Amino acid sequence: MKTAIYPGSFDPVTNGHLDIIQRASKMFDKLVVVVLINPLKSYSFTIPERCEFLRKATADIPNVEIASFDGLLADYFNQRQDVDVIVKGLRATSDFEYEFQMAHTNKDLNPRAETVFIPASLKTTFVSSSMVKQVAMFGGDLSKYVPACIHEEIRTKLTHDFDEAKALAEARTHE
Ligand code: COA
Repeated sequence: MKTAIYPGSFDPVTNGHLDIIQRASKMFDKLVVVVLINPLKSYSFTIPERCEFLRKATADIPNVEIASFDGLLADYFNQRQDVDVIVKGLRATSDFEYEFQMAHTNKDLNPRAETVFIPASLKTTFVSSSMVKQVAMFGGDLSKYVPACIHEEIRTKLTHDFDEAKALAEARTHE
């Protein structure tokens, strides 16, 4: 049985991630989608929220497991003796340098941790979680970018956060 792990921030999961999940789930017997932390980023959604979005978005794919880990991917890989390989999506050549660096660092930290890349499908090459968040904050149409089952939760939280930030900024200008 071959098991792959698909790591990411998923803040939130987009149709681009889902495209990789659907394709990888057909290549491996089991796919573990793991929500991790990039310490250089600030996140809009908590880890439980990001996991819940992923669970909803992948509910119809039986061989997908959703997990989270607060540490190095190489250590998580080590803990999961059932996992054989890391899967990552590549959207454009601009992703390559960063992903290449991460793949080598992970292998350096854990020689068992090999990475394979899946090219993103053409219709999702420009999608990113930040872009989705901006569309949601300004009330744009999310239907092409995010699984329908999580539109409302994303929009509600992000518009609320955005309204709060605007109100705070306005209050500061009147101080
Ligand atoms: N379709 C659409 N968007 C995609 C995508 C795809 N197929 N693949 C990646 N993206 C987007 C993401 O939405 C994200 O967009 P954003 O920057 O607007 O949020 C961006 O590409 C990067 O995504 P991701 O691959 O999740 O990278 P990341 O830097 O957010 O997180 C971790 C990478 C969490 C996997 C990495 O930091 C990690 O392993 N953390 C644990 C600690 C560790 O081991 N560090 C690494 C040592 S090298």
